[in-house]
Amino acid sequence: MFTAMSYQSGVLSLIDQRKLPRESHWIEYRSLDAIADAIEQMVIRGAPAIGCTAFFALAIDAKSYSAALFWKDYNSRFMEACERLAKTRPTAVNLFFAIESAKKCTASFDFDTPMEIVSSNIEKAALDFFAKDLATCQAIGQHGLSILSTQSKEKVTILTHCNAGSLATAGYGTALGVVRAIHAAGRLSMVFADETRPFLQGARLTAFELKEEKIPFTLIADSAAAFFMGQKSIDYIFVGADRIASNGDTANKIGTYSLAVNAKHHGIPFYVAAPLSTFDPKISSGDEILIEERRPEEITEIASTPIAPLGVTARNPSFDVTPHTLISGIITEIGVLTPPFYSKIASLFSHS
Ligand code: MRU
Repeated sequence: MFTAMSYQSGVLSLIDQRKLPRESHWIEYRSLDAIADAIEQMVIRGAPAIGCTAFFALAIDAKSYSAALFWKDYNSRFMEACERLAKTRPTAVNLFFAIESAKKCTASFDFDTPMEIVSSNIEKAALDFFAKDLATCQAIGQHGLSILSTQSKEKVTILTHCNAGSLATAGYGTALGVVRAIHAAGRLSMVFADETRPFLQGARLTAFELKEEKIPFTLIADSAAAFFMGQKSIDYIFVGADRIASNGDTANKIGTYSLAVNAKHHGIPFYVAAPLSTFDPKISSGDEILIEERRPEEITEIASTPIAPLGVTARNPSFDVTPHTLISGIITEIGVLTPPFYSKIASLFSHS
């Protein structure tokens, strides 16, 4: 299975997702600042993958301090490192979940804990976090497959948006994990992959993953999705998520909201697939989700070539919020949550 990152003794290797599928170019990172830049510049992207990357960055930063020092010499730098990472991308909550998990792992250190122990504990926690994400995605895949138990068709057609696959997680993927599980069970007819303007995660990354794994798919323009829904060509829509509020409102890649509206109109089940680390129980609705707005050049240029008249105004919100009323279910590693979501989400996080 494809992977976007690998970590070994203080070095994080990331495949440069800006260059896929033309080039499989791996970059080695040895410093937190370089990794923070890589997250900002989308070398790595996708909510769970950003979280794993940030945790590895904290492990690398701790390792870069002399083993002869102590936690008292490093803890304020650790807090600065957390702040630097927190500024990279605002919408996906998995980043903040990873940072909080790393902070929890340092809570047991006394000031005289040697840095050798500090850095090896953070490194072990980062590796565990990564391994857990992979297992989580595989469980999401199986729960997603269970949705088909009430489906009379032997094989189904699925539409997905953006890239919520191996490249966006520790491996296997969330929405694309469900696709993988359905394919492995012999129940997949075909996947429609939205190209996902403007960054083209669907055309470049989802198409790359599906092609590598010989999963049958057809690439479509985002604006063609309603056409295929109207043609009754789509049985299910599965998308990932960047942040899910307590009421089930879900932030995901720009264009997800219009897919959900169209799905409702055509009576097509619309599912979000996401780990529990993508829920933000502190916020009551999607209105509180900060939406990242990226450079207008992502709209006015394609592969650095201008496609709009020079100097035009363009807006580039990178995510939108799908209201919970449009969501048929949220597929997590512990099962599928169905509406009404509020009480179910509240009981899942009542102890946190
Ligand atoms: O801007 P990106 O590429 O980081 O956005 C990615 C998405 O919106 C994904 O759908 C989401 O992070 C889920 S990935 C499992």
